[in-house]
Amino acid sequence: MKLLLFASVVSLVILAPSAVFTQAAGGRNPALSPAIERSVDSILAGLTLQEKIGQLVQYTGGWSTGPTGRSINDEQRAFIKEGKTGSLLNVIGSSVTRELQKIAVEESRAKIPLLFGLDVIHGFKTTFPIPLAEAATWDADAVELSARVSAAEAASSGVHWTFAPMVDIARDPRWGRIAEGSGEDPYLGSVMAAARVRGFQGRDLSNPTSIMACAKHYAAYGGAEGGRDYNTVEVSEQTLRDVYLPPFKAALDAGAGTFMASFNEINGVPSSGSRFLLTTILRDEWGFDGFVVSDWNSIGELIPHGYAATPAHAAELAINAGLDMDMESRCFRDNLQSLIEQGKVRTATLDVAVRRILRMKFRLGLFTDPYRASTPEREAKTLRSAANVEAARNVARKAIVLLKNEGHLLPLSRTVKTIAVIGPLAENHRDPVGTWAGPTDTNNVVTLLDGIREAAPASRVLFSPGCAIDGGDTAGIAAAVAIARQADVVLLAVGESEDMSGEACSRSSLELPGRQADLARAVQATGKPTVLVLMNGRPLALSWEAANLPAILETWFLGHETGHAIADVLFGAYAPTGRLPASFPRVTGQVPVYYNHKNTGRPSDDSVHYTSRYLDVPSTPLYPFGFGLTYTSFSYGDLVVASPRVRATDSVSVRVTLKNTGTKEGEEVVQFYVRDEVGSLTRPVRELKAFRRVRLKPGQSTPVTMTIPATDLAFTGVDMRRRVEPGMFSLFVGPNAAEGLVGRFEVIE
Ligand code: NOJ
Repeated sequence: MKLLLFASVVSLVILAPSAVFTQAAGGRNPALSPAIERSVDSILAGLTLQEKIGQLVQYTGGWSTGPTGRSINDEQRAFIKEGKTGSLLNVIGSSVTRELQKIAVEESRAKIPLLFGLDVIHGFKTTFPIPLAEAATWDADAVELSARVSAAEAASSGVHWTFAPMVDIARDPRWGRIAEGSGEDPYLGSVMAAARVRGFQGRDLSNPTSIMACAKHYAAYGGAEGGRDYNTVEVSEQTLRDVYLPPFKAALDAGAGTFMASFNEINGVPSSGSRFLLTTILRDEWGFDGFVVSDWNSIGELIPHGYAATPAHAAELAINAGLDMDMESRCFRDNLQSLIEQGKVRTATLDVAVRRILRMKFRLGLFTDPYRASTPEREAKTLRSAANVEAARNVARKAIVLLKNEGHLLPLSRTVKTIAVIGPLAENHRDPVGTWAGPTDTNNVVTLLDGIREAAPASRVLFSPGCAIDGGDTAGIAAAVAIARQADVVLLAVGESEDMSGEACSRSSLELPGRQADLARAVQATGKPTVLVLMNGRPLALSWEAANLPAILETWFLGHETGHAIADVLFGAYAPTGRLPASFPRVTGQVPVYYNHKNTGRPSDDSVHYTSRYLDVPSTPLYPFGFGLTYTSFSYGDLVVASPRVRATDSVSVRVTLKNTGTKEGEEVVQFYVRDEVGSLTRPVRELKAFRRVRLKPGQSTPVTMTIPATDLAFTGVDMRRRVEPGMFSLFVGPNAAEGLVGRFEVIE
């Protein structure tokens, strides 16, 4: 029996430069500011019961991002004046937010400023790539920049708070909200979560260009059975802690001011009524001092869950569990007073929630300047500024993943005579913005066709949509084939519409929708060299396309700069650097297929019958997690484990030689995985622990050292404590989750 080494402080310090985030000592936030706490106390002491409850109430004042909702109306204006509203969502623009704020700070008795929240998910007026695409950059700086630009734009329009980042781990691409997160991996997800929080909140939350972040959806919302949105989650506490929670912890450690409780239940308890999640883990273990908002009506939904009998019961369960602000359900508004009078909710519990909300209003600087310097002039200067649009183009091109490039078809020459641009996504302004694009103007989308015409002015560019994204009409395919025949190269832009992923947009099939596969087959039959340009919000199942088309670019939904970014990559102005943040299945029936799975007692071996596999499809994914090509090639050699025997308090260090073996300069994302070979609980076959970008000229080679603290090898044991167990570990350094050089090291006591 092994002796167990307990890691009392689980360090997330990663020494590889691509992933810099730190955990405050003891897992607690920086000390509370005594000045703010004193101010909060003095305001709280002067509030009536109604005013306290009001701080916990949030309404939509603009459009609806849930089943109900209405724009700001006289009733809501009256509520603001009477101190019955602490926050509004979906109201944007400096003029209207100033007008409403004025009511709160000048006409209400307590004069507490309102908090304006919005889903600023991947841009505001400048639309960046969807979050899944941004995760494909494997570039924390790029993702931080995207969030920073989005924050500055939203803040200029009077927004104080974004319901982002979404940090849900998604192992099932049928789940439409995979588009809004960072994919399947807890480590990559943690790096991205921290980067986004840093970007939104900046160094100082009170800076008027910063907005407050909200880590959502707490927790395990991505674990929905069958990938169907809002569905039940059954997950062991170990998997919850080791897979689903790390990105939330990373967001908290980066300073996220708020969390959002998720819609789903976990093991029978809906998150919005879960004291275990909202208090035991979030407050007692992690020391979070911000506040928790419900999801849209998620308190009211405790009733259909079968967890609460009435709205009053739902309010009682939610606030006693540790939920502070009620988005849209009215359960707090209508019931908290009587619950307090009946003694079912303690005044102290209410006070704690109000205190948390006021604390964050102070940290945002709302008591100093309730308008946070938002003006129409500032909006005009900030929104879609040239620098912001340039940033969107840079991030967009980094998000593109080259999946196949047979015979070096790419990059294309700018002197190619005739280019046929085919497909329903080629001249499309609506879909490339992707899900949750908020106040975007789709007229600002540079389409693929625009981008190609601009990048190759000397070429003859022909266009035909071929078919629609969905539906059964094949009438346009003949015209598409006709232009393909005249071309030297075909760019085939197919995929999904923006409303096929995102909230309530799960799909049971991951193949190309509609007749697009027929279009692809017809174009391929012309024999013309064809580049498949995919636009979609999730991993797709593309077995035929991968086998039959020579080049494939996964471009996701890239936002406003779609056409520029894709043209940059197609013509080689930018060599692709993106890597998959989630595995691509071969067929839908293979999901969930994710790299950090367990081994089973009969590990899959397609040549052996009695093993864990499907009869009709290979066990491997079509493209593994971390995969992505570029216009040159790399080799890995000379793996040396610098630390063959380490203690749990030491670092694990490995060195390889990376060489650019191709003819072009390029960037590799070197990935470092480990496997705990034998554990007191079974461990995944691989876990990503660090990655690092390395740029090399043709023929150049360099040593690359990857170092992690051994405490990163910890996992949650049977007793729910995190530990590093002594024993042998494998490590892998390579270009993706399925390849790499292998070494071993031992953790000793
Ligand atoms: C419901 C979504 O689940 C959540 O992500 C979003 O922030 C809210 N609606 C508000 O729009």
